[in-house]
Amino acid sequence: MPLSIDANVPLAPRTTLELGGRARWLAHATSEAEVVEALDWAAGKAVPVAVLAGGSNTIIPDDGFPGLVLVPALRGLSFEDDRAGAVRVTVGAGEPWDALVQETVARDLAGLECLSGIPGSAGATPIQNVGAYGQEVSETVREVRVLRVRDRATETRTPTQCGFAYRDSAFKRDPGKVIVLSVTFALRRGGPPALRYGELIHALGEPPGSRGPSLAEVRAAVLALRRRKSMVFDPADPNHRSAGSFFTNPAVDTQTADAVAAQAVAEGLVASADEVPRYPTEDGRVKLAAGWLIERAGLAKGTRRGPVGLSTQHALALVHHGGGRTEDLLAFADEVRDAVRARFGVSLEREPRLLEALPNG
Ligand code: EPU
Repeated sequence: MPLSIDANVPLAPRTTLELGGRARWLAHATSEAEVVEALDWAAGKAVPVAVLAGGSNTIIPDDGFPGLVLVPALRGLSFEDDRAGAVRVTVGAGEPWDALVQETVARDLAGLECLSGIPGSAGATPIQNVGAYGQEVSETVREVRVLRVRDRATETRTPTQCGFAYRDSAFKRDPGKVIVLSVTFALRRGGPPALRYGELIHALGEPPGSRGPSLAEVRAAVLALRRRKSMVFDPADPNHRSAGSFFTNPAVDTQTADAVAAQAVAEGLVASADEVPRYPTEDGRVKLAAGWLIERAGLAKGTRRGPVGLSTQHALALVHHGGGRTEDLLAFADEVRDAVRARFGVSLEREPRLLEALPNG
């Protein structure tokens, strides 16, 4: 079947923020050949190409996109035992992420359980090294198969080549060079769940007897926690139009973290410095909680600026209430960033990306 290309397609309904304009053209590529066909079609017409996957981490400009929006819709899921006793799970880029997590948990495969309830597609997860509740995809990604935009060649990237870091990867640092086709994870059959995040451990409590919680129990606990923070996509939730965390948690040096904590005590925001959430990073820095900083900078959960605002459940999620423009959201994001900088001298970095053209041909 030849690739079908639609014209003037509204993009807002394809994103969880439900903001932004139309694509001049849009194509779903269901195979590697269709990805190439779409790239060639756009190059032939000399129009720009942008990739839009699950739409849960992308901001669409109000004037939309003047070229071809390519939706990688490659499907497929396979399981294979490897020689090291792990199970290699290969998933097409267009498979919905949470269905994959659910399936691996049902098969008693450990490694993705804490990443339950995250909206979006599987192919997007290595790009920003998706993580939650003490787990990141970088721990289990073994291969990422990609199509190089420059010459349409396919390549298999190793974890080292992926260059993973907190919410970051070589794909993100050097954007638009490749399109992810599939991802292979190595999971442990019957392996223990990752219990590292204090809030999750607390939520699980003491399971009956001395056994640890099962993968299914961990998944259920993560889903409940996320739901409480409006971080599970649910159209019935008034905070549902969001892109999850709008900023990454800033990594600062220990002096800056100590200064923030001292300031918080001096200003009576906390009774003692150890109440300020902070997490050590591997490179000796300290990650502060952006949501905490936003609230203490004077922007309470539920703050509204017309059609946009902060989630009533979590200050780190910017939400759209309907009828707004991307411009409103970005202006409010600037206000939030400025407030945190003015109060604490800490700069927040935006986490969702703007839909942008990739270099094609
Ligand atoms: N906090 C506040 N006010 C808020 C929100 C949070 O004071 O409005 C405090 C909490 O009390 C807690 C700390 O900030 O002490 C951290 O909050 P939380 O556990 O909710 O996690 P987070 O750091 O805000 C990160 C990820 C989430 C992930 C959770 C759980 C980032 C940018 N975000 O959020 O990921 O689900 O941890 O692991 O790293 C996403 O990336 O889109 C995302 C949702």
